[in-house]
Amino acid sequence: MKSLNNELKTFKESIFATISHKAVEANAVNLGQGFPNFDGPNWLKDLCAKAFDSDIPNINQYAPSPGRIELREVIASNARDFYGLSYDANSEVTVFNGATEALFCAAFALLNPEDEVIVFEPFYDSYLANIKLTKATTKVVTLHAPSFRFKLEELERAFSKNTKMMYLNSPHNPSGTVFNREELEQIAALCKKWDVYVVSDEVYEHLTFGEIEHIPIASLEGMRERTITISSAGKTFGYTGWKIGWAIAPKELTHALRMIHQFNTFSVCHPIQIAMAEGLNRLSEYLPEFKELYSKKKDLLIKGLKDAGFDPISPEGTYFVLCPIPDNGMNDIAYCLHLIEKHKVATIPPSSFYLNSDDGKKYIRFCFAKTDEVLNEAISNLKKK
Ligand SMILES: Cc1ncc(COP(=O)(O)O)c(C=O)c1O
Repeated sequence: MKSLNNELKTFKESIFATISHKAVEANAVNLGQGFPNFDGPNWLKDLCAKAFDSDIPNINQYAPSPGRIELREVIASNARDFYGLSYDANSEVTVFNGATEALFCAAFALLNPEDEVIVFEPFYDSYLANIKLTKATTKVVTLHAPSFRFKLEELERAFSKNTKMMYLNSPHNPSGTVFNREELEQIAALCKKWDVYVVSDEVYEHLTFGEIEHIPIASLEGMRERTITISSAGKTFGYTGWKIGWAIAPKELTHALRMIHQFNTFSVCHPIQIAMAEGLNRLSEYLPEFKELYSKKKDLLIKGLKDAGFDPISPEGTYFVLCPIPDNGMNDIAYCLHLIEKHKVATIPPSSFYLNSDDGKKYIRFCFAKTDEVLNEAISNLKKK
């Protein structure tokens, strides 16, 4: 038989699947998986059920390829109300099958094999897979532990005349870093200097803690024209399985994204778009309760880990906590397996989110998007000798 796509040789089963299998085998509490083990708001589920059963014409047939206009309009109005960003719902907003599909389409809309792409490590794993599939080249810049922030001189060195695009993820998975205005200004200045596009993954945009503010890079001077901002309702509403994501970008970039989307998935689950349009319409009312829920869960896990003898890093955003591995000579993978087998707690070893630095081998990632019962069970398991 003839060979398959060469790039596949470097693709492995994702670490999330591997850890989840081990967790099931060992009957361990799973704080690895990066999604809630409980449902989002009931009112939104009810709206969704109603939409499937409604008499809206063709509601159970293909949705328009760029997305239902009601949903695109509310995405545009939220961008205006939350961040002062002005986008035209018709020509600058597109609905995708989760942020994952938007990220895939962004890579294929922008990249040619001769291009270089800058990525901060640790990175969300789909960025690298997408770069590889387009045959572009990855340039990695490390967010250094324990602060998980970049060094400007290292970022400057990564740019060249071949740099086409940069991935930004803020709030950042897995470190919980939220880039501040000064950092974003530094990134923006380099992108403008070298004429580079930014694909800004903001799926945790509404999950920041205390006084920490999420700033979309597109809101900085001269950045709107070169930025594709990607987000998703999955994280904000706790229904990751519904896969409603979107990208907002200037007209020419949006057109390019839609050209890829039409030959990829073409359109997104139609009735769920109706429900999400209403969900996003109620965002301002809903967010305080959402933030409070996750803030309490963060505090519960951080305190519990400290009581169990760990020294976790409190995140500025996201529902992840990185925790240094106690001084026991184990790397992240060995330690994760040890925790699954000996303490019945599953976490994620972050070294697979790195290409250059060894920092990932010194940490494990906990996810606190779990019921208090599950978080307490994990903490009690970790406390047992
Ligand atoms: C940083 C980041 N980007 C994108 C995604 C995927 O989002 P979606 O479920 O909307 O495809 C995730 C999911 O964990 C994520 O953590």
